[in-house]
Amino acid sequence: MSIYEERKSIRKYKPDMIPDETLREILEAGRLAPSAKNRQPWKFLVAVGEKKEEICALMEKGIMKQKKSRMMPEKFKKGLASAENTLRIMREAPVLVLVLNTHAGDPYKPVMFGKRVSEIHDSLSIGAAVENMCLRAQELEIGSLWIGNTVFAHSEITEYLGTKDQLSCAVSLGYADEKPAGRPRKTFEEVVKFL
Ligand SMILES: Cc1cc2nc3c(=O)[nH]c(=O)nc-3n(C[C@H](O)[C@H](O)[C@H](O)COP(=O)(O)O)c2cc1C
Repeated sequence: MSIYEERKSIRKYKPDMIPDETLREILEAGRLAPSAKNRQPWKFLVAVGEKKEEICALMEKGIMKQKKSRMMPEKFKKGLASAENTLRIMREAPVLVLVLNTHAGDPYKPVMFGKRVSEIHDSLSIGAAVENMCLRAQELEIGSLWIGNTVFAHSEITEYLGTKDQLSCAVSLGYADEKPAGRPRKTFEEVVKFL
């Protein structure tokens, strides 16, 4: 089986810490990813122990704030249950990597005219870096979860970090304590068309 077939989102972790060298190899895979115009619009902030707990506390604060918000559409509120589950996973996994987009800002603000294309390209580049890290983690027998739900605590976490960069997503890392079956995928015919 190829590495991309072996990789699964891991949502249950053992408490054991990843060796420093292994963690560095995973981050290196992110650093070496391709990017639009080779802009490399990323920063990877690694949180373990107390720092990770502080970030999780901010995530919880963000979720609570969103829950109380009357501005939020009902559909979006449903995502909060998923965010709470993600928070449990973030607490359980020994390592959390926050992924900043250094070429973008607050995702809740409109994108300035003319910046839309480069913002799309930078987000794609970040996707490549995160997938590189998840695949390298799999090769090194480390479980990973790509986390987009940090968006619920964007202002809380970026203020804590003292950055104006966009918190694009996060990645939880650790030794897997589950062997999940593969999530379903659309069929080849559904997604591929030979023109
Ligand atoms: C951009 C992105 C954001 C994601 N955010 C979350 C998240 O916040 N919480 C979570 O539990 N899973 C998250 N996932 C994992 C997806 O749910 C998962 O990749 C999908 O269900 C397919 O399962 P698999 O990764 O095991 O193949 C995210 C995946 C991607 C690519």
